[in-house]
Amino acid sequence: MMYQLSNFSIKTFLSQHWQQRPCVFHGALRDFEDPLDEHDLAGLAQEAGIDSRVISEINGAWTVTEGPFTDFEPVCRDNWSLMVQGVDTHIESAASLMKAFNFIPHWRMDDLLVSFSQPGAGVGAHIDQYDVFIVQGKGCRRWQVGNKPTESSQHYPHPKLQQTDEFEPIIDVELQPGDVLYIPPGFPHKGQSITECLNYSIGFRAPDQTELFQVIADDLLDSNQSTRRFTDSNRAYIDRPGAMTTTDMISLKSLLHGYIDEPRIEQILIQHLSKQNECLDDFPLEHEFTHSDFMTMIQEGVTIQHACGVRPVYLDHQIDDEFTFFINGHQFSTHTSHRLATTQILDNHQTQLLFHCDMSHDWIELIRELINRGYLDILE
Ligand code: SIN
Ligand code: CO
Repeated sequence: MMYQLSNFSIKTFLSQHWQQRPCVFHGALRDFEDPLDEHDLAGLAQEAGIDSRVISEINGAWTVTEGPFTDFEPVCRDNWSLMVQGVDTHIESAASLMKAFNFIPHWRMDDLLVSFSQPGAGVGAHIDQYDVFIVQGKGCRRWQVGNKPTESSQHYPHPKLQQTDEFEPIIDVELQPGDVLYIPPGFPHKGQSITECLNYSIGFRAPDQTELFQVIADDLLDSNQSTRRFTDSNRAYIDRPGAMTTTDMISLKSLLHGYIDEPRIEQILIQHLSKQNECLDDFPLEHEFTHSDFMTMIQEGVTIQHACGVRPVYLDHQIDDEFTFFINGHQFSTHTSHRLATTQILDNHQTQLLFHCDMSHDWIELIRELINRGYLDILE
């Protein structure tokens, strides 16, 4: 199943809505077919290593139960919703749905959260820190979105459930299958099912300074890098020993900037930002393709595609002889002459691969490694 947004201008969306204001796109996914059903969702919620929870409410009393579940009966009571995180790494058609939002780069994407909710159910008014597209699957759900508050008060009706105060809606709609709601970070929202429904939340992420500094600091400690020290030859005399001059502060900050500006930091950051989900490393091929197996296949021609949920990342501007890219925090590289062929595979869900004399042995081996590690699939 291929999902594609229609009657949706990416340019207008990026200039007028992304990170700015919420918006509803009615019928953006025309003739929408759910990529999964509630039974698939329940199946995932039974597996260890998959983040799932049931949220239920009766007369304002909220309960959150985390999976994996062996028995849904005792928890699925009253107004309940089952929510499963990271569905894109497990269900191919769910991963395809996320691809409809590829106009935002891989490194900004987080994962697909799927919820199945009973009539009347929802998780209450809340604020998310990240952008989200909410796709209405089967059923009908009322969604309300309020304006971004200057100050918001959060409360916890259950230790694992954060909610915010009720708000004056600026959007109040009933979504039908294939409708898409976009909500930027910080806008309070609330969904309440009218009928039994499935909702797909395409979630994004954006690092904060704490996260980025942490990545740099961890690398610094792990790698025992020798770093530059502050120097101050040609010091100007001032007669107030307590004072630290602006000049001193500027050189101190430039010492920090200097470190951040080193090319290796770009690699460290992008490596970190390419990390997705531990599950992605769990599926190396049981029967690896040998070099000769693979040669036979590409001599006949094969179609390769990203394995479920895989979102590779590479730095656009690279000047070395090696072209480097990352998948789930792992670094790979190839000679820069293969850049185009490689980015073709990294950027597109599917690529035709037919042996050509320009393909070097090393490049073929790289692609074989990506297949054997389970990051690329060969379409039968
Ligand atoms: C839901 O599907 O109920 C939750 C999605 C959200 O509000 O982020
Ligand atoms: Co939300």
